[in-house]
Amino acid sequence: MTKYLFAIIFLCFYTLGEAQTWKAPAEANQLINPLKKDKESITKGEKIFQSLCTACHGKTGRGDVPSMQNLHPKPADLTSEQVQNQSDGALFWKISEGRGLMASYKNMLSEEERWALVNFIRTLAKPEETIEKTEEDLAQNINNNAVSSTKKELITSGQTVEAFPFTVLINAKTTHIMNPKGFGLNIQHRFGATKFDEGLITNFLGLDLAANMRFAFEIPYNERLMFEIGRTRYGKFYDAGFKYLILKQTADDKIPVSVAVYENIAVTTEKKPQYSDQATFENGTPFEYKFHHRLSYDNQLIIARKFSERLSGQITFQLVWRNLMPYSEKNRLKNTVIAVPLALRYRMGIMQAVSVEIMPNNQPKNFPVSFAYEVASSGNHVFQITITNSARLLSQNLYTVPTADYSRDGLMLGFNLIRYF
Ligand code: HEC
Repeated sequence: MTKYLFAIIFLCFYTLGEAQTWKAPAEANQLINPLKKDKESITKGEKIFQSLCTACHGKTGRGDVPSMQNLHPKPADLTSEQVQNQSDGALFWKISEGRGLMASYKNMLSEEERWALVNFIRTLAKPEETIEKTEEDLAQNINNNAVSSTKKELITSGQTVEAFPFTVLINAKTTHIMNPKGFGLNIQHRFGATKFDEGLITNFLGLDLAANMRFAFEIPYNERLMFEIGRTRYGKFYDAGFKYLILKQTADDKIPVSVAVYENIAVTTEKKPQYSDQATFENGTPFEYKFHHRLSYDNQLIIARKFSERLSGQITFQLVWRNLMPYSEKNRLKNTVIAVPLALRYRMGIMQAVSVEIMPNNQPKNFPVSFAYEVASSGNHVFQITITNSARLLSQNLYTVPTADYSRDGLMLGFNLIRYF
């Protein structure tokens, strides 16, 4: 029996191994490199290569990083003939799309940055190949010059752009849907509230205090539809949602924005609230705790735009409903929340960005504001340090608990960790 099992496992790996040659589609060869192979573009490409690519492909691009040698397929030797013989367009396409461990860089790097990488990769060729290649390229470029502008138009028309490279910015959902071949893991963590005084040191930046966390799996169905399931510590919420991308912004601005709908339902599994026999609903009927009181809903229409290579923004129209609201004479929070969250992200460098979110809504004493500094984003991974005025994470909870007042409560530090596999 075990023998057969081994045979099957071996076969699976063998067939996987067979399917490994990675070919760019023929159209990719038609893409025209808009950058000259000059010092400027090569230095730019080299800089990006040194910060994003060397961990796998090695400093010299040979793919000889020891810890990567057991991988299947292992990071390619970019100096090899096999790579150097491909067209600029094919290399550009592979860097843009990615496969397996090799991330897709199209949402993270601008087109120009990806072409600069191609130009740098060309310099990695063994000397004899470089000469051959540049001459060949030159000839190709001359041939293509006459048609290049029309071809470029053909290629950019209908090409879509992505306002945000991740499914969630700080708390706000974005219009992004991840690569349908993988899945995402999203961890949001908020430490306890602390003021920026000695409490920051005694509570170790709030890390000593009670913290909230949401852990979510994101499962794409195709390029437009994704599902997610999440668990949040505060409120012991389990939630399930989906996002559907209706429109995708195009590079030629024929469609100027991306539009998505997002729907989420959550159930709190906290113990039922303590209430006295005399407790009533607001309208006077006697209070009785039922299952549907545990449910809450979040509906969003998200409109996002990439304004430039660096700046993206979005506005959301959001309706949140919670079946049962905690009651207090002082804060008469409502079951229905209407909110119009605004978010901006500014990319500062290859791996850094800053984001801000403000979420005006109709609840009293509730105005979520968040800042984030993205420390080390790469094609399939982001790490953000966040400062927020609420530790709540799920919209159904974020809008139904008053936000912190800095002078009284302080602010929360935290982090977001997103990884696409
Ligand atoms: C996490 C590791 C990793 C990082 C980081 C990475 N790559 Fe790769 N790369 C790979 C692997 C693995 C492959 C082989 C993929 C395959 O064949 O399925 C690959 C393949 C490639 C190929 C295609 C080679 C061929 O055989 O045609 C190119 C081009 C490439 N990488 C360029 C880059 C560039 C440029 C960067 C940085 C922006 C980069 N890679 C970052 C792992 C990585």
